[in-house]
Amino acid sequence: MIEKEVKENRYELLLKQIPALIEGETDETAVTANVCAVLAETFPEWLWIGFYRVVDGELLLGAFQGPVACYHIKKGRGVCGTSWDRDETLVVANVEEFPGHIACSSLSRSEIVVPVHNKTGAVVAVLDIDSPELSTFDAQDKCYLEQIVTIVEDGIYK
Ligand code: SME
Repeated sequence: MIEKEVKENRYELLLKQIPALIEGETDETAVTANVCAVLAETFPEWLWIGFYRVVDGELLLGAFQGPVACYHIKKGRGVCGTSWDRDETLVVANVEEFPGHIACSSLSRSEIVVPVHNKTGAVVAVLDIDSPELSTFDAQDKCYLEQIVTIVEDGIYK
């Protein structure tokens, strides 16, 4: 478990770093790849950090850091597809207790998924983060990761 204050310091730094990192670049792959990289550098405790994009009516694997992952996720399926369907951030303390959870890696124990929107408010992607420990993510992570996603939305989807 990462202490609340340590997490706060790391996230506050990310809120300064990410706008600078993506400034002037609007390519989706380039920006999302670097956002995954800076998140992975900042939180080496996490197992998997990545984007799934809405392509042809389902989620398709995008930029990520971590072990290999599944390519396609249908709307309403797993944590990612449910977050997209409900258009809300999902914090899952124990993935084994989430109905329909898709286990890309058996090492994943907890997860947070944040929807990403375009300028009309439609979900165009989700940011998915997996942890090898139970109960890694809480309201603090939700609050900061939603701010990070807003920076990404403003940079490349608006
Ligand atoms: N666990 C996710 C699938 C994606 S992988 O974790 C990278 C889910 O249930 O949607």
